[in-house]
Amino acid sequence: MKIFLDTSNLQKIKEWAPTGLIDGITTNPTNLSKEGGDPKKQILEICSILPDGDISVEITEKSPEDVYKQAKAIAALANNIIVKIPCHPDYFIIIKKLVDEGVQINITLIFTLIQSLMMAKMGVKYISPFIGRLEDIDIEGITIIEEIRSILDVYEFETQLLAASIRTVRNFHDAILAGADVVTLPVEVFEKSVNHILTNEGITKFDSDWKKLGLRQFP
Ligand code: E4P
Repeated sequence: MKIFLDTSNLQKIKEWAPTGLIDGITTNPTNLSKEGGDPKKQILEICSILPDGDISVEITEKSPEDVYKQAKAIAALANNIIVKIPCHPDYFIIIKKLVDEGVQINITLIFTLIQSLMMAKMGVKYISPFIGRLEDIDIEGITIIEEIRSILDVYEFETQLLAASIRTVRNFHDAILAGADVVTLPVEVFEKSVNHILTNEGITKFDSDWKKLGLRQFP
């Protein structure tokens, strides 16, 4: 199972990359805009920090013709780029064309099982259902991950299920159990997930008990 960070923050990516836990990054217009500066430079640096990771970069053009050209230009920036395209029917023809041309695609803004099935039929590399945004409108988000998992398995699609819009550690836990191939985590959720208060308390207790021996060296 892969873990992506849902961020464009270079400092955080550099901090966590050496752990080997981070298999990729999902950027989007919101998180790139939050970091400011030149997004192209930012993306190239992310690609070089994680040369074996999948780095998703979203299109920003609107018309299908422009999206097609932009998708090709984004894909040409580095060989570990995955082009992110929203799941909108206006783009279906160009998504198919890009897949046929070997462009790796992550379909974003997926909210239903049917959207997922259609994108898997097109042969995209990733589909990204948004859990948090469904929960924002009081729809149980994790159910969609379970449902998509079952259709991907039943029909033996190769498309990978990427759980996105994760807001809590519980969402992360549930997405793992529901069979997501990838979960993309905001840095705050990732950092909360790797810490546990009882682990920290346990370390402090072992340390204070050990010091009671008064040893200067061990072993
Ligand atoms: C990732 O690919 C998505 O862009 C991201 O998870 C969206 O998260 P949000 O709903 O918290 O903005």
